[in-house]
Amino acid sequence: MSTKVAFIGFGGVGQSLAELFLKQKENLNKSHLLNPVVVAVSDVMKGSIYHPEGLDVETLLATIKQTGNVEDYPNQPGLIRGWDSLETIKHSNADVIVEVTFTDVRTGQPAIDHCRAAFENNKSVVTTNKGPVALAYNQLAALAEENGVFWGFEGTVMSGTPALRMPVTTLAGNEITEIKGILNGTTNYILTEMEKGETYQASLEKAQSLGYAEADPTSDVEGLDARYKTAILSNYLMGTPLVAEDIYCKGISDFTLDMVKEASKNNQKWRLLARLTKENGTVKASVKPELVDNDDPLAGVIGPTNAIVYQCDLAGPIMLTGAGAGLVETAYSLLIDIIHYHRQYALTKI
Ligand code: HSE
Repeated sequence: MSTKVAFIGFGGVGQSLAELFLKQKENLNKSHLLNPVVVAVSDVMKGSIYHPEGLDVETLLATIKQTGNVEDYPNQPGLIRGWDSLETIKHSNADVIVEVTFTDVRTGQPAIDHCRAAFENNKSVVTTNKGPVALAYNQLAALAEENGVFWGFEGTVMSGTPALRMPVTTLAGNEITEIKGILNGTTNYILTEMEKGETYQASLEKAQSLGYAEADPTSDVEGLDARYKTAILSNYLMGTPLVAEDIYCKGISDFTLDMVKEASKNNQKWRLLARLTKENGTVKASVKPELVDNDDPLAGVIGPTNAIVYQCDLAGPIMLTGAGAGLVETAYSLLIDIIHYHRQYALTKI
C-alpha cells in the first residue's frame, strides 16, 4: 500500500525529504511498511506538476537541479502542469500534504490556508511552518479532527529533535508544570562564540554564513523565533492557547563582550531561555536572556544546539537536547510525522 504525498513548496527542506524517500526506501518499507509515492509538487517559484500514479523522484530532483523548474519534468501521459497550491491540495489524490512553503510567520500565510484547505478536503498535513501552529492551533486542530485527518508539526520546534511528540507520548501520565529551553540555534551560537572572545557582530555574521539564521536574522536575535516556538509549546503541550503577543520577549541584540566576560567571572553563562510556567490553570511565558550557573546542564549546550527541560510532576526534570535546525534534520521531522500518520491512519486499516 502506498502513501501518496504532495509537496506544497519545494525548497531545501522539501527536496531533502524527497532525497530521504529515495535513500530510506528499503528501510521505510521493511521497518514501517511505508511506501511514499510523490504525486505532486507545487511551488510558486519552481512550478507545478501532478501525476496521479506518482512521479519518479530521482528524475524530479535531477530536473530541479538542472533547470530549477519542475515543469521541465519529462512529458508522460496523464501528467498535469501548472496547478497552483490550492488546486493541488484540492484536486490531487494525495493522502498527505507536505506543507513547506515560504510562510510569513506573523500572519501564518499561506500555510494556514493550505492546512485549512487540506483538512476540508480530507487530506492530512505535515508541516514545519511555525505560523499555523503558533497562530491558529485550536481552529486547525479542531478542523483536522472533525475531518478525521492527521496534522503533524514536529519540526516546528527543534526540527528533528522530538520536542513535541516525546513529552506527549513517552512522558504521558505526568503533568508538565514548567518548560524551559534554548529554542533558537542562531542566538545560542552567537552567545557561545562570544564566550570564546568573538564580537556580537562577527558571531552573527558567522551564524548567517553557516545557514543557522532566518532570512531576516532580526527574528532570531530579537527572540521572535523562540517566541513563536514558545507559543507552540503552550498550545500543544500545556493545553493553553497563547499567541506571540502574550509572551514577554527580549532578545540579545544589545549584548556586548563585557556582559559575557562579567558573567564568566561569576562562573555563569548567558542563555536565551524560553520559559513556560503553569500557575493556577494559566501559563506564564517569556523569552529572555538569563544567567545560568556553569554547572547547569543548559550552560553546557553550545553552538547551534537546542535543549529543552520538562519539569514533570512524577518523573522530575527531563532534558532533551539536539539539533534545532538543518535541512536533513528538518526533513527528518517531516518523515517522523509521515511515519506516525501511517501508523495511525493507514496501518490500522490493513
Ligand atoms: N533560525 C532558527 C534557529 C532556525 O536559529 O534556530 C530554526 O527555526
